[in-house]
Amino acid sequence: MKTPTIVTTVVLLLLISLAKGQNPKCDSDPKEHGSTLKVFHVFSPCSPFRPSRAMSWEESVVQLEARDQGRMQYLSSLVARRSIVPIASGRQITQSPTYIVKAKIGTPPQTLLLAMDTSNDAAWLPCTACVGCSSSTPFAPAKSTTFRAVRCSAPQCKQVPNPTCGGSACAFNFTYGTSSVAANLVQDTVTLATDPLPAYTFGCIQKATGSSVPPQGLLGLGRGPLSLLAQTQNLYQSTFSYCLPSFKTLNFSGSLRLGPVAQPKRIKFTPLLKNPRRSSLYYVNMVAIRVGRRIVDIPSEALAFNPTTGAGTIFDSGTVFTRLVEPAYIAVRNEFRRRVAAGKKLTVTRLGGFDTCYNVPIVAPTITFMFSGMNVTLPPDNILIHSTIGGVTCLAMAAAPDNVNSVLNVIANMQQQNHRVLYDLPNSRIGVAREFCT
Ligand SMILES: *[C@@H]1O[C@H](CO)[C@@H](O)[C@H](O)[C@H]1NC(C)=O
Ligand SMILES: *[C@@H]1O[C@H](CO)[C@@H](O)[C@H](O)[C@H]1NC(C)=O
Ligand SMILES: *[C@@H]1O[C@H](CO)[C@@H](O)[C@H](O)[C@H]1NC(C)=O
Repeated sequence: MKTPTIVTTVVLLLLISLAKGQNPKCDSDPKEHGSTLKVFHVFSPCSPFRPSRAMSWEESVVQLEARDQGRMQYLSSLVARRSIVPIASGRQITQSPTYIVKAKIGTPPQTLLLAMDTSNDAAWLPCTACVGCSSSTPFAPAKSTTFRAVRCSAPQCKQVPNPTCGGSACAFNFTYGTSSVAANLVQDTVTLATDPLPAYTFGCIQKATGSSVPPQGLLGLGRGPLSLLAQTQNLYQSTFSYCLPSFKTLNFSGSLRLGPVAQPKRIKFTPLLKNPRRSSLYYVNMVAIRVGRRIVDIPSEALAFNPTTGAGTIFDSGTVFTRLVEPAYIAVRNEFRRRVAAGKKLTVTRLGGFDTCYNVPIVAPTITFMFSGMNVTLPPDNILIHSTIGGVTCLAMAAAPDNVNSVLNVIANMQQQNHRVLYDLPNSRIGVAREFCT
């Protein structure tokens, strides 16, 4: 582990402006063999969804944090099982997940870049003639010889929200973030890395409103019905892992490894908790948080798992910065500030939603998330965002927004970067190990 004195840098401004040229490495796929897919950050040079103009570091960070507000609102709606009342605000909040993988759909294959979402079950993607989709290259069912509609009477039609019958074909509506989506339920061959998955069931989007829908669709890695895990039980045995590359190294790709083969052996595990009422979400039992060597004082109800209210802690691939319910966040933040100041007087500043920022170099303590059976100690790279240009360093976590009545602690992707996170459903556990994603 690196010493806390090495405060490393996230210079999105530089990376985004460097990212403009096309990268020939994006199309050759040395890592896409067997059941392992490359994972790209949406801001990666290999992502067509990277920002079209250079943003300042502050602007990028504030934008990612603002997207998280939408993401938290969405997760809270899943937990509360009601649809979202959009936050009253002039601007549209998008919450598209941060990491994308390449999938080939149909015969002959059409390539789409799907957003990975561990808190969603079904996959869905924009189809030809979709009204309100932003993709200029939607999936064209008419060009695929293996495409077919799912009939109303099919069992899959009972697993989607609000199913309706258009003719005899199954259609459904759902909300995602602040978007409303109308889709047909369809099947086609989906190829992930080199594994063809025949008759994969997914939503073919006909109409979308709002700006939350990922431009080329979404791959649901949740644990509920119609998710990738549910549809590939024989092949992948409900097991996958990923390594998410850091924002600092946008030219690196991570990996999504499907199935029990080649998963790490040396890894610490914590049990998954089952919440029958929120079947998609990966709940774990976080029992305490340590800042440096001190376990901070958090009221037990702030961390407790409650299947009825949905309270507790989840791992999520789509939220960027870890959110803790307010009493937990305040306790962590106060101890963090105390350790950073180390008896001196240091001015704490704000940046967007981050309330613990410094305009001078700091020595930060480690933060340890303590789960049942597993302590995960995060090095500074997973805790701090730092601009070399402005010289601003912030604690990269925040309190759950108070306007969504959130009861969830979300272990988000910035805190998972450069770790292998293994979802092992047959043994009902999640594993975490340090790994440098390249
Ligand atoms: C789904 O959305 C479509 C298009 O907006 C609408 O025509 C249809 O009535 C909706 N169906 C349900 C079940 O809400
Ligand atoms: C990514 O960029 C860094 C610095 O720009 C360079 O050192 C590194 O070799 C690059 N890595 C890859 C995989 O291209
Ligand atoms: C986690 O760390 C605490 C000390 O802070 C220790 O008591 C506990 O045994 C550790 N748990 C595991 C599973 O290593």
